[in-house]
Amino acid sequence: MYENIMRKIAPSILSADGRRLGQEIAAVEAAGADWIHVDVMDGHFVPNLTIGPGLVASLRKATKLPLDVHLMIEDPDRYIDAFVQAGADWLTVHVEASIHLHRTVSLIRERGIRAGVSLNPATPLSLVEPILPEVDLLLIMSVNPGFGGQKFIEGTLPKIRQAKELIRATAPQVLLEVDGGVTVKNIRAIADAGADVLVAGAAIFGSNDYGATIGAMRDTLSRSVIVV
Ligand code: DX5
Ligand code: ZN
Repeated sequence: MYENIMRKIAPSILSADGRRLGQEIAAVEAAGADWIHVDVMDGHFVPNLTIGPGLVASLRKATKLPLDVHLMIEDPDRYIDAFVQAGADWLTVHVEASIHLHRTVSLIRERGIRAGVSLNPATPLSLVEPILPEVDLLLIMSVNPGFGGQKFIEGTLPKIRQAKELIRATAPQVLLEVDGGVTVKNIRAIADAGADVLVAGAAIFGSNDYGATIGAMRDTLSRSVIVV
């Protein structure tokens, strides 16, 4: 049996031109992006600092696309309300950064938005197994989080496949997102492994023509089918 689903492309604004973020978002929206992926880093959980809820609130005014906010911060419960008020549609927290993950996920969902959980490349899938029925999205990191433009870690492909199997068996409502090192070249293999949402930063914002790059990604994705 074949499963052919509508996959989503989520440009990560980490690699956008910070001088004109609003225009960059408008440009990828016009180029066919499905979601806008926003990376929030605290300098503790990852060795980099990015943006906070204030800027997310400004970005909210720049697009109607869903804002997919990826929190790479310790103790994320402290900031959930701020990001919900800023207009996040999806809020994803790291399993490694949240001690009471069930509580965190419940806090997000009680506020009426979608909750995601994320795993670093070295973190086993088994850690999210108990929580999957309670979430809307599972984000598998395919680079070590902190920076854009890194190389896709090939060893995460089997984990993506296993994650898809687990989702199918236990929580079919969950979207599987893959983040890190996604390019026009490897997007097909990642989608074939089971990814529903493909995040891409450098591959899109580093290209000369966002429409051509997203178009090439979508064209490749349209040929991807998952054999189940
Ligand atoms: C990495 C971030 C990613 C990053 C992806 O810590 O979570 O979203 O922006 O960028 P690329 O596609 O350049 O690897
Ligand atoms: Zn991200």
